[in-house]
Amino acid sequence: MSGLDLVRRPRRLRTTSGIRSLVRETRLSADALVYPLFVVEGHGVRREISSMPGVFQLSVDEAVRETAAARADGVRAVLLFGLPGGKDDTGSAAADPAAPVQSAIRALREQCADVTVVTDVCLCEYTSHGHCGVLDGERILNDVTVEHLVHAAVSHAEAGAHIVAPSDMMDGRVAAIRAALDARGFDDVAIMSYAAKYCSAFYGPFREAVDSAPAFGDRRTHQMDPANTDEALREVALDLEEGADIIMVKPALPYLDVIQRVKSTFHQPTAAYQVSGEYAMLKAAAQLNWLDEARAMLESLTAIHRAGADIIITYYAREAARALAEQSGD
Ligand code: PBG
Repeated sequence: MSGLDLVRRPRRLRTTSGIRSLVRETRLSADALVYPLFVVEGHGVRREISSMPGVFQLSVDEAVRETAAARADGVRAVLLFGLPGGKDDTGSAAADPAAPVQSAIRALREQCADVTVVTDVCLCEYTSHGHCGVLDGERILNDVTVEHLVHAAVSHAEAGAHIVAPSDMMDGRVAAIRAALDARGFDDVAIMSYAAKYCSAFYGPFREAVDSAPAFGDRRTHQMDPANTDEALREVALDLEEGADIIMVKPALPYLDVIQRVKSTFHQPTAAYQVSGEYAMLKAAAQLNWLDEARAMLESLTAIHRAGADIIITYYAREAARALAEQSGD
């Protein structure tokens, strides 16, 4: 016999695709994916977002078509964002029953009955200044903003949303939304809170998608400092106490340590959002042929899942679901 006298040879379990799939520890499934959609006014509108190739602003009819196509690919949940016809100081269109998101919820519940409808609850897409709340000078007023968020969440529930997802990072909004939903008989509507949402440069392309870049200043007074993780646990603990059913970490790939700490500390349904900038980086590198896009996509999503995310919100949902269906495992 030549070579080393080894008893333990980890490579044994990597010799064939079949063996590798037997010992695989993390299995990504399309069931875990949530597909974000940007809903606009009009009919027959399908407008690509330049910094997010393959992602479109869609009118309600097109959002229904896109959801049906996603369902056919194996995606079972969508997350709706809206662009209103008009913006104002307080983002009043956020709670308008006739606005694109509320209309899309009703259409999807009717025409895509087996798809779970999640809605983003925030004011930034609806305010003329692009901030997530009501302002007093340059200060975002927490408690007044929460009242507006509650109206928006209730309007989503009235339209038929299964899950509302407050993304504003105001204090106390989960409890206020829970109480308002319950008072109106919507005790089955779940809350997925953006609990540990960081003040991130990776939201850049999203702000182009919904035209919500703040007119002045930034979001540092409410979104979290990227340097902190103990604070993420405090935010998550508060949202759970207030009644959140699912808690989210956002962005995803640069915050795997936070996902892992949140999951291993609380053992609650945990979501992670692979945000617009994460998507845009992969797309841009793929367009330059600098990365194998399909592999980089699945590797990133697997890493997010491996870190502890049960649910992954991703613009890649359709592509990933198709790739997973094709893949027999290598
Ligand atoms: C706020 C919201 C944002 C995102 C989701 N909800 C933007 C922000 O906080 O500025 C970002 C999503 C992404 O970048 O993909 N309504």
